[in-house]
Amino acid sequence: MYNDLRITPSILNADHSVLNEEIARISSVSDLIHLDIMDDLFVPNLTWDFAAAEKIIADCPIPIDAHLMIEDVDRISLDYADAGADSVTIHVEAAKSAVTTLRAIRKIGARAGLALKPGTEIDSHADLLNEIDMLLIMTVEPGFGGQKFMKNMMDKVRRSKSLIGDRPIWLQVDGGVSLDTIAIAREAGADTFVAGSAVFNAPEPALMVEMLRQRASDV
Ligand code: DX5
Ligand code: ZN
Repeated sequence: MYNDLRITPSILNADHSVLNEEIARISSVSDLIHLDIMDDLFVPNLTWDFAAAEKIIADCPIPIDAHLMIEDVDRISLDYADAGADSVTIHVEAAKSAVTTLRAIRKIGARAGLALKPGTEIDSHADLLNEIDMLLIMTVEPGFGGQKFMKNMMDKVRRSKSLIGDRPIWLQVDGGVSLDTIAIAREAGADTFVAGSAVFNAPEPALMVEMLRQRASDV
């Protein structure tokens, strides 16, 4: 399903006690599954440890998009690539040597992603666009699902789109994406959309994924 628009549902707010079933409900309509890894240091929340994440990656029937919100990212991101995550995204605010790490992720064979928190500008990191396959613009402060979409990030999305130019880099938004906000992000130039609570709080998650895709393609 790798077309020019991707829906990557986040399982952060899915029912973790029946995660395989939750993933099975949406996998046929989703492009990748977005896996939020938090260490309670980079963000004030803790999710799966590496052993648990490794199992999720191994069991998942579709590619995994790992979003690493962790301090020790230069080292641990390579473990995620080794474990078979299709895409591994590191935060520029956490990386100590982003270029080396992004190159190492790619060398293992995963797509390399770079994420920016709301307070981080793209211009100061524009050189890193040569090292990545995806740029993630956070539309909430990372840490929790269910927060409000920050419309004021759309200037950054537009700026990023223009800096990306004709490079084949996916432009992802994450946080507060819903039927009310996805078109705004699409209009600004995003092509890859994380949606957590919008999908898993919906009575029919798969239908919601399809509706989000439709809403974005209508733009
Ligand atoms: C937040 C995470 C998001 C989160 C999105 O730090 O990176 O991926 O799960 O959840 P919603 O869509 O509910 O904002
Ligand atoms: Zn995320």
